[in-house]
Amino acid sequence: MVERVSTGIPGLDEMIEGGYKKNNTILLVGGCGSGKSTMAMQYLVYGAQHGEPGIYVTFEEQIKEIKENMGRHKWDLGKLEDEGTLKLLRIDPQVVMNIVREEYGAIVDAINSLKAKRVVIDSVTSIEAMLEGEHNRRQWVLRLVDWLQKMGVTTVLISESEQDPTKYSRHGVMEFVVDGVVVLYNIRRGKTRVRALEILKMRGTDQMTSLVPYIISEGIQLQPRQMIFGDFGQE
Ligand SMILES: Nc1ncnc2c1ncn2[C@@H]1O[C@H](COP(=O)(O)OP(=O)(O)OP(=O)(O)O)[C@@H](O)[C@H]1O
Ligand SMILES: [Mg+2]
Repeated sequence: MVERVSTGIPGLDEMIEGGYKKNNTILLVGGCGSGKSTMAMQYLVYGAQHGEPGIYVTFEEQIKEIKENMGRHKWDLGKLEDEGTLKLLRIDPQVVMNIVREEYGAIVDAINSLKAKRVVIDSVTSIEAMLEGEHNRRQWVLRLVDWLQKMGVTTVLISESEQDPTKYSRHGVMEFVVDGVVVLYNIRRGKTRVRALEILKMRGTDQMTSLVPYIISEGIQLQPRQMIFGDFGQE
């Protein structure tokens, strides 16, 4: 029996046989403001509240700002950190490259000290920007995915894309290496935009294939009923 890890998003687990497969690496793709960081944090907060501590690694945003913004969703990240079930780390992307080569650094320490089961890297786009050459990039991604699996964590890697992407990572390689791909769309419809989530790939999983609308309000909230009344899933 395959062990599954809850996504923390109400309704999403049911779309993928109960959650992400344990120890898998999932690519969470979306345009700017599509809710990638929110969805990834919701995954960690759920874990923190259910005995699966998590690490959030960011390269760009200030921790203070992340805590403030995520506070809007009624998540008290500071409290979870005090309880030792969550850790937010802001590091130089160069460090991540070293970790995968030499296996040391702040992420390893954090995983070990929290006995973390969940990891989020926000975002891998920053790292991809530093790698040159197709072979080099593919090797790096393979090493990262192997290493995360060896560490015994289930990981969400955030990838920045267009609002309606044709490539799901900067060079179109990561999506083939990871175990699953979740896409957040924010598509223009006349004068408004419609948000929708798609499970693009989930290895070893009988996944639901239609796009599901969602809103961002106290986290990511799927709106599956909208599909019946709207036409988003029809295209
Ligand atoms: N309290 C809230 N209620 C409704 N929508 C919100 C709320 N807080 C944030 N949002 C929406 O969420 C978006 C930002 O979400 P998030 O930071 O998770 O996106 P992202 O995909 O990580 O963005 P980026 O590409 O900038 O990293 C905002 O642009 C806003 O539309
Ligand atoms: Mg973000």
